[in-house]
Amino acid sequence: MSTIRLDKFISERTEYSRSQIKQLVSRKMVTVDGQVVKTSDVKINPDTARVIVDGNELRNERYRYILLNKPDGYVCSTTDNDGESVLNLIPDNLRTKNMFPAGRLDKDSLGALLITDDGELAHRILSPRRHIPKIYIVKLDRPFQSNYINLFRNGLKLASGEVCMPAEIRRCELSEKLAFVQLYEGKYHQVKRMFSAVGNNVQILMRVSLGNLILPEKLAFGQCMELLHKDVENLFSIPDFDAFCYDFARVFSAKLINKQV
Ligand code: URA
Repeated sequence: MSTIRLDKFISERTEYSRSQIKQLVSRKMVTVDGQVVKTSDVKINPDTARVIVDGNELRNERYRYILLNKPDGYVCSTTDNDGESVLNLIPDNLRTKNMFPAGRLDKDSLGALLITDDGELAHRILSPRRHIPKIYIVKLDRPFQSNYINLFRNGLKLASGEVCMPAEIRRCELSEKLAFVQLYEGKYHQVKRMFSAVGNNVQILMRVSLGNLILPEKLAFGQCMELLHKDVENLFSIPDFDAFCYDFARVFSAKLINKQV
């Protein structure tokens, strides 16, 4: 039986720091299997323990959630039939047998990709009805035009005749050829086809957030990290797009510029 410390179990699933957890324990606000615990360093079995903190039960994860910074040249499928699968980038200690990419990025696209074995969560984050935005940064062939903002907002018509849901776009302040795009849906090659519809062309595309789960600056292309319960919750909150573009212009434009085509 593998056990972990109670404070580790709680801090991975909440915003409480270790010292706050100690205080909660000393105020008798933490129970394990119905018993008030006396110290925060007791060992528990994470698979079976019923932990309640300040009235809220913390469930153990049955599923695993990995955030990959997808590099160029890998395909978002579970087999290597059409090219090398992104699953090959997950180290053995993080990989489970039913994992799949929740959502697609093209073979030449970069950035945030959620890989999980939780089919229900994948369905929830991909459904356009849930209104979970995804933010991309793109490097364009030609300079950004200010009329893109209204064209994207009013539901762009693609060359195929398909009409997109309203989307937001902003020029990235650091370059006239960089832009951030926020979408609530994921049609095939959608961002590339939206720029073709306005007479431009995407050279590099990188997804930088899924809901409010933002690709960490320290995660290099090809690297992945296991998400904690509280990171997964961020998938379901919505970033302020203008604040995001302002706050992350430097970080993500540097990543794209260092990745010249
Ligand atoms: N839109 C695209 O065109 N490609 C992607 O990989 C993702 C969104």
